[in-house]
Parts: sequence; structure tokens; C-alpha cells
Amino acid sequence: MRIVLLGAPGSGKGTQAKLICDYLKIPHISTGDLFRAQIRDNTPLGIKANEYIQKGDLVPDELTISVVKESFNKEENKGGFLLDGFPRNLHQAKTLQLILAENKQYLDKAYLINVSKDTVLERIAGRRFCSNCGASYHVSFNPSKLKDKCEACGGTLIHRNDDEEHIVLDRLTVYNKSIQPVLNYYKELGILETIEGNADANDIFYDICSSLKAV
Ligand code: AP5
Ligand code: MG
Repeated sequence: MRIVLLGAPGSGKGTQAKLICDYLKIPHISTGDLFRAQIRDNTPLGIKANEYIQKGDLVPDELTISVVKESFNKEENKGGFLLDGFPRNLHQAKTLQLILAENKQYLDKAYLINVSKDTVLERIAGRRFCSNCGASYHVSFNPSKLKDKCEACGGTLIHRNDDEEHIVLDRLTVYNKSIQPVLNYYKELGILETIEGNADANDIFYDICSSLKAV
């Protein structure tokens, strides 16, 4: 199964990706997580990407596509995957289609998690993220039982650097400007499914699972 998850910052892509990938036993490829790993390791790519991420901009396509291609070369991603946060513009969507076609592969579904601006701001304001393993929490909706420590690894929970409200508003503006052509593209391919995202995480997962049964 090859799936893309689309949605605004804080719409719940990472949260749903984890549930779907556990359920379908497919790998989770998040371009945001891949960039954050490079930033943590202080690589040249991480340093470059961080310049854009801190401004709420998209990382240039050339860098982003190179990161995605590299992950497709990994053996564990060859049998299927869920892409979280890629593609974000029409060029990325068409490039993905080409890469897959070269390997006689295709996408099964593109899910859009549709949320309001208020939901985005509430979810991001309360998000905490593990500085060690990247696990995500929310102070009200999904708190860690260990307060400011990660339940999985004991790492310290922190705010993401790009989660300050003024950066989130910029991220939202960028998202709203670039996503519509991607949605039109997947609609024309007949694989776009819009999911109501202003709901409980389990209800959203249930809706996605119901749709997956039809694939
Ligand atoms: P990325 O890390 O992908 O950020 P994003 O798209 O802005 O999305 P987020 O990770 O902030 O939110 P999410 O949708 O995963 O929500 P989550 O599940 O965490 O990208 C970061 C940056 O990297 C981009 O800004 C860009 O610069 C760059 N980048 C990445 N991909 C790129 C690309 N393709 N091209 C160019 N640049 C790229 O949920 C949020 C919070 O809400 C959590 O606390 C969670 O616990 C809570 N929550 C989730 N679901 C629910 C629910 N249903 N009810 C209540 N709470 C919920
Ligand atoms: Mg995410």
C-alpha cells in the first residue's frame, strides 16, 4: 500500500500516520521528521533546511526531493509506505508520480485531513515533542503520563522551534497557497479522500480505516 497524508500544520498527520502504519505494517516517511533528524545531526542539509523551516517556508524542492528519493532507496520502504507531509506543491506531486512510475508503482490513496485554523492553533500550542526520540504529545489531548518526560524513552519533552504562533501562521499561509493544485491533481487521478479532522484522533482513524477497506 502506498499512501500520502496531506493536511495543514498541526492537522494530525503525524498522529494518524503512526496509527495507520502500525495497522497496515508499512513504514512512515515524514519529510519533517527527516529534516529534523538532519538538523539534530548538524549535517549540511540540516543546516540549509533549517533556514527555511525556522521561517515557516517550504524547503526548496531540490533538497526535499533528494531526501525522499534517498528514503525510497532503503530496502524497508520498497514494498509500500505512508508519506507524511510530502508532496506539498504540484511539482513535488508530479515528481513523486514519475519516481513511482519508473518503478511501475502507483499511489493507492491520498488523504487530506481537513481542519479549521482554530484547531490548528489549539493543537500546535499544546504540542510537546520528545527531544530524544521525536514522539509527539499534547498537554490536554494526549498528555504524557510522565509529565515533561517521554513515556517511550524518558527524553525531555519540548516545544518544536517552529511551533511559535507567528511561525505557525506563516506555515499556514504557505500551506494554503501551495496545496490546492496538489488536491486538484489527486482528485483528477481519482485517489483523493477528504477526512473530517476536527474530531477525536480515534474517530479520524476509524474514518481512514473504513476508506482503506475499499482500496
Ligand atoms: P512537518 O514536520 O511535516 O510539519 P507540518 O506539516 O507543519 O505538520 P506538523 O508536524 O506540525 O503537524 P501534524 O499534522 O503532523 O500534526 P501532529 O500529529 O503532530 O514539516 C516541518 C517543516 O519542514 C515545514 O514547515 C517545511 O519547512 C519543511 N518541510 C516538510 N516537508 C516538506 C516538503 N514536502 N516540502 C518542503 N518543505 C517541507 O498533531 C499536532 C498536535 O495535535 C499534537 O500535539 C497531537 O498530539 C495533537 N493531535 C493530533 N490529532 C489530534 C486530534 N484528533 N485531536 C486532538 N489533538 C490531536
Ligand atoms: Mg508532523
